[in-house]
Amino acid sequence: DKPEDMRPRPPVVTIMGHVDHGKTSLLDAIRKANVVAGEAGGITQHIGAYQVEQDGQIITFIDTPGHEAFTAMRARGAQATDIAVLVVAADDSVMPQTVESINHAKAANVPIIVAINKIDKPEANPQKVRTELLQHEVFVESMGGEVLDVEVSAVKGTNLDKLLEAILLQAEILELKANPNRTAEGVVIEAKLDRGRGPVATVLVQAGTLKPGDIIVAGNEWGRVRALVNERGEHLKAAPPSTPVEILGLQGTPQAGDRFAVVGNEAKAREISEYRQRK
Ligand code: GTP
Ligand code: NA
Ligand code: MG
Repeated sequence: DKPEDMRPRPPVVTIMGHVDHGKTSLLDAIRKANVVAGEAGGITQHIGAYQVEQDGQIITFIDTPGHEAFTAMRARGAQATDIAVLVVAADDSVMPQTVESINHAKAANVPIIVAINKIDKPEANPQKVRTELLQHEVFVESMGGEVLDVEVSAVKGTNLDKLLEAILLQAEILELKANPNRTAEGVVIEAKLDRGRGPVATVLVQAGTLKPGDIIVAGNEWGRVRALVNERGEHLKAAPPSTPVEILGLQGTPQAGDRFAVVGNEAKAREISEYRQRK
């Protein structure tokens, strides 16, 4: 891509942290829609992807599970993201998957923003969180470092604007850009075989603009995009860079973490997928 073809794109922000520290609740509060009803409080077992708009700017969020069994999903989330929001419950402080999340973000070279959650709780101790983070080389501003930290309550809706501002500030520093006018490519966030709809892959478009009718190869699978559906069930005519979207029309179910790309024609797509399936 030539520099003159690059356009600003929304930040992709992955929410990470220990189980039950309030990642989904926080995202839910930010979205102000209750689409995770029945899940907040339960254990997140898959990755969710959503877009919100703040002051006319779009932010793409990826929610990850905090349960220890889902290391691979946290690692993939960290790799597909621009910014990691590390959620730490102020009544529980730094726990094993907090540390694991820090390590994933550092390995992927992704800046961290700390959301110290549950500050509404009487036993909340945000200062303890900051001190414990020091031991894992996360230096928040008030401790002389450069990592932005925001005290929030997902339940009370406290300081959500501050968190979004911190995200937009960090995004501005990163000067995120992509070329929307090239063949689309990106990464599969999750995929499943839906009884009614067939193989459904939730992908993050990272470059180019994906459109219905495009022929794609995703991992070992291929297909002609029949529909692009966002998290609100709306059908999109185009998915530019940083858009998370469900793809219908694949012939098989790819793996989470697979790369996808648009290819020129069906014969080529079939050939690539058959070749990969033989290996
Ligand atoms: P996993 O995805 O399973 O790792 O959990 P999670 O981090 O997404 O946490 P979740 O949103 O499921 O919330 C866990 C519990 O904490 C739920 O009972 C929430 O209601 C509660 N909770 C989340 N945020 C807050 C908060 O700000 N204050 C209080 N008091 N409770 C909260
Ligand atoms: Na939970
Ligand atoms: Mg969750």
